[in-house]
Amino acid sequence: MTHSETMAPPGVNKEAILAFKQISNEERLIADTLNGFNKFTFDPIIDVGSGTGLIAALAWPSRNVLLVDMEEYPAPTDQMHTRVRANFFHEDWSEGRSAGTLVFSHSLQYLDENMPLLNRRIAELAPRTVLSVTDVREGFYGELVAWAECTLPNINPEHAHYTFAGYEVVETVRFHSTIAAHDMMTLAQLMVGALLDHIVAPNEMETCVDFFQTHLKGPDVRLAQIAQVHRCAEL
Ligand SMILES: C[S@@+](CC[C@H](N)C(=O)[O-])C[C@H]1O[C@@H](n2cnc3c(N)ncnc32)[C@H](O)[C@@H]1O
Repeated sequence: MTHSETMAPPGVNKEAILAFKQISNEERLIADTLNGFNKFTFDPIIDVGSGTGLIAALAWPSRNVLLVDMEEYPAPTDQMHTRVRANFFHEDWSEGRSAGTLVFSHSLQYLDENMPLLNRRIAELAPRTVLSVTDVREGFYGELVAWAECTLPNINPEHAHYTFAGYEVVETVRFHSTIAAHDMMTLAQLMVGALLDHIVAPNEMETCVDFFQTHLKGPDVRLAQIAQVHRCAEL
């Protein structure tokens, strides 16, 4: 492995992510959607970038789940769920492990810089299926990404589409979540902070809020999302 492959990824904007979850109804919707993929989901499930673990708790109560996240979060309450604090790309936590199903729910934007490496790590864990959840670049969110790409430095949104080497998409479900804040500034800060992985600097605030005010009637947004099942092509 080269140095760039092994070095830790930049820290995530955990505060913005947690605050964003408070103004979005997506966790229950994601959990219900993932639960609907039951016939494609095999234990042990490894939820990569699990965050708090709430989605896993709602989607797979009593199934064998390993939550992997590089940030610190409380221990899971479900007895069948365990947590490891680790960087997905580091091999220390995964030696001797394999996954039935790997899950990437809104974590791929942090892992997609080096797709060959991501594919190699997936191959090492050899899951029968990979489940992914990502935002769809349409509606206001699509306009926001296009605008931010020209306006804000170093944004890091999810890609529009993900595929994984050796896996084929066998199921796709679209759904919409709702984000509703008290005011435009909060909405702008949390959407840009969590979805674009960019802390709005004081000198960017005015132009950011102005964009939101120009494009929205109020501080709420409908966000299109896509959940996919990627099945190992060799099975
Ligand atoms: C936006 S949150 C997603 C949380 C949850 N999966 C969801 O859908 O709501 C992304 C999570 O990925 C984690 N993460 C980012 N890079 C990671 C890495 N290299 N290894 C493990 N976790 C990582 C972050 O710490 C963060 O908790």
